Amino acid sequence: MPSTVLVGTQWGDEGKGKITDLISSDYDYVVRFQGGNNAGHTVIADGKNLALRLTPSGVMNPDCTPVIGNGVVVDPRVLAGELDMLRENGISCDRLVISCDAHVIMPYHIALDGAQETRLGKHEIGTTKNGIGPAYQDKAGRTGIRIQDLLDEAIFREKLETALDYKNQLLEKIYHLPTFTVDQIMEEYLPYADMIRPHMAETAQLLNTALREGKNILFEGAQGTLLDIDHGTYPFVTSSSCCSGGAPTGSGVGPKAIDKVLGIMKAYITRVGSGPFPTELFDETGELLGQVGGEFGVVTGRKRRCGWFDAVIARYAADVNSLTDIALTKLDVLSAVDTIKVCVAYEADGQRYDYFPMQHSVLYPKNVTPIYEELPGWKGVDISECRTFDELPANAQAYVEYLEQTVGVPMSIIAVGPDREQTIFRNWSAR
Ligand code: IMP
Repeated sequence: MPSTVLVGTQWGDEGKGKITDLISSDYDYVVRFQGGNNAGHTVIADGKNLALRLTPSGVMNPDCTPVIGNGVVVDPRVLAGELDMLRENGISCDRLVISCDAHVIMPYHIALDGAQETRLGKHEIGTTKNGIGPAYQDKAGRTGIRIQDLLDEAIFREKLETALDYKNQLLEKIYHLPTFTVDQIMEEYLPYADMIRPHMAETAQLLNTALREGKNILFEGAQGTLLDIDHGTYPFVTSSSCCSGGAPTGSGVGPKAIDKVLGIMKAYITRVGSGPFPTELFDETGELLGQVGGEFGVVTGRKRRCGWFDAVIARYAADVNSLTDIALTKLDVLSAVDTIKVCVAYEADGQRYDYFPMQHSVLYPKNVTPIYEELPGWKGVDISECRTFDELPANAQAYVEYLEQTVGVPMSIIAVGPDREQTIFRNWSAR
């Protein structure tokens, strides 16, 4: 049963898109298992940059079946736009499969996402305002609308009436916002049912059958470990299970079906949105990493906060995901700095934390002092043309080996630039 889960190990934006594109040709299926259009990555087709937010990147490969699993929340407006954009660029979307159990993002989810953030004021999460959290709230609250509900007009109407009865009161009485009518939403959403119908399937059955036939499956995670609803820096997280454990629940295969877990780890670390970030740099080095690394969000365009590699987080991510391999990305960006720092532990209240702390208050700048190890850099040496580990400057090799030893997981892939070719494969194989 050859299958791999690919996950982000930091706060998202680790470069998962590039690695997924790179390895997806080794897989028969590429499956999204959580999140929605809060994710975003750029793929390159015929020299053009295309931004994908919802569609699994396997759509770019004609021999691969892209699957949107049950754990995903689907905004049909975004899906329609994305499929149109792909078709206009000559990419067939016919193979796309969408789980009948995936939940649907409704217009009131988007309105409530913005309203809840405004209400939180200075405590806002910094969400992407795409309705992700409110859609998962309804899923857990058992008032959500699933893909299969869209396809039966009577069921859709009934569920929508029940949902709107409450949502409209929230919008009007608590948030003083415009309300929605059932007819208005039905009129907009029913045509989406026609778009989705040919793609809908029982994806658990599809994937388990594929595994029995010896097909190779890649589970493509979105966001990252520290944005996971359970294992992240709660409440500054997204509302889904971004860790490898989310792949079985979000797709309908059992945990024994997973044999590799590839964690994507940036050679430094970034975060968008609010929340604690122990190694955040507020100085010119942080600015420099952001500029050289092009650290702006694909979905929101927001500037990412930048900091040094945090080995405490990396070790935690290795544990909670059972990482078997790491892809280290953006190593080339570190050519811009003199000395490189790696946070090996935290100090707070006179105590040392080598492991991710139980109390997240430790992670806040007013409490935490990161304990750094300093390593010599390779400033000014362009490593973007290196294609083997041995071609890297000695200090870059030493940096990778140091991280590998500190984290305890092999770094099987190293990215030295955004292009596909700008990659060093060490010990990676899909099977
Ligand atoms: P939501 O997922 O829109 O609810 O946002 C919750 C938190 O997750 C916010 O801090 C977002 O900035 C963050 N987030 C969501 N998706 C991504 C992503 O793809 N990359 C990085 N951060 C993300």
